[in-house]
Amino acid sequence: MRIGVLTGGGDCPGLNAVIRGVVRKGVEVYEYEFTGFRDGWRGPLEGATLPLGIPEVRGILPRGGTVLGSSRTNPLKVADGIRKVKENLEKYQVDALIVIGGEDTLGVAATLHDNGVNVVGVPKTIDNDLNATDYTFGFDTAVNIATEAIDRLHTTAESHRRVLVIEVMGRHAGWIALHSGIAGGANVILIPEQRFDMDQVCAWVEQRFRINYAPIVVVAEGAMPVEGQMVLKDDTRDAFGHVRLSGIGEWLAHEIEARTGKEARTTVLGHIQRGGTPSAFDRWLATRFGLHAIDAVHDGDYGTMVALRGTDIVRVPLADATARIKTVEPALYSEFDVFFG
Ligand code: F6P
Repeated sequence: MRIGVLTGGGDCPGLNAVIRGVVRKGVEVYEYEFTGFRDGWRGPLEGATLPLGIPEVRGILPRGGTVLGSSRTNPLKVADGIRKVKENLEKYQVDALIVIGGEDTLGVAATLHDNGVNVVGVPKTIDNDLNATDYTFGFDTAVNIATEAIDRLHTTAESHRRVLVIEVMGRHAGWIALHSGIAGGANVILIPEQRFDMDQVCAWVEQRFRINYAPIVVVAEGAMPVEGQMVLKDDTRDAFGHVRLSGIGEWLAHEIEARTGKEARTTVLGHIQRGGTPSAFDRWLATRFGLHAIDAVHDGDYGTMVALRGTDIVRVPLADATARIKTVEPALYSEFDVFFG
């Protein structure tokens, strides 16, 4: 059998560990051959391939990014996209496709499965917002990077007695903000799931100064004030209709400074959260996902996605995995009330 592999959407640490797990077990245990598709769905859509075998996966375990390349190409938005993908899979004699991606990339995989393509999905995203899996790989690395940044901001904030705001990624989910904010001892954590009140934020900031420390405010890029809208980077949308977020951190620092008279500065962490070597946990999880994905192919269990439930890797229907995003529940957020201010 010949198996195609692609990585789609925003890259994330651990993608190479999945590819290595898939290929190592696929070749050594099942004697499969592989075709790598370049740049997400652009590969099968345009017939862009690259060789994929044991030599190509040597040494890639600790490397960030993806050796296959990635893109936000959406074949469902291209005329005859599904037909073109199917023709290319046939041309390269690909019997099954392993699709490593987030809700958008896996949504396309689900549609292709409905159109007769043999697909198995692997969940990835630093945002950890994929339903049906307890964690996605990439998230742990992003949280560690953001936590280290917060640790560093504490010492400079205290030297200058400034408010330091740190804006983190996560799109419409507050997982990165909440986990890194708690791990880094932030005094204010603002997430998209709960609109924030500026008076409350300023009260927390002032309280922190009163006990002689400088406040650290962690804000998720998708967070919104009670009155107001999400701050967008610009007007553009990607092929899946997503807006580009970022700007809330600057807005917040400006508001805090104007209302409290305390100097406030912003750090936007941006793509630093996605780059570089994966954490040990992400390498472990990504490797397990890779091994289980190739097992699912071997079992002919198509239309499924591998997922983490507790400490077990299970298979769930792709359609369930992409039906809605996983967000932070209010009860979890309020567990940490005691640390605010
Ligand atoms: O989904 C991952 C993510 O990093 C989000 O947190 C962020 O909003 C988005 O991708 C940024 O996308 P881009 O790759 O276009 O910079």
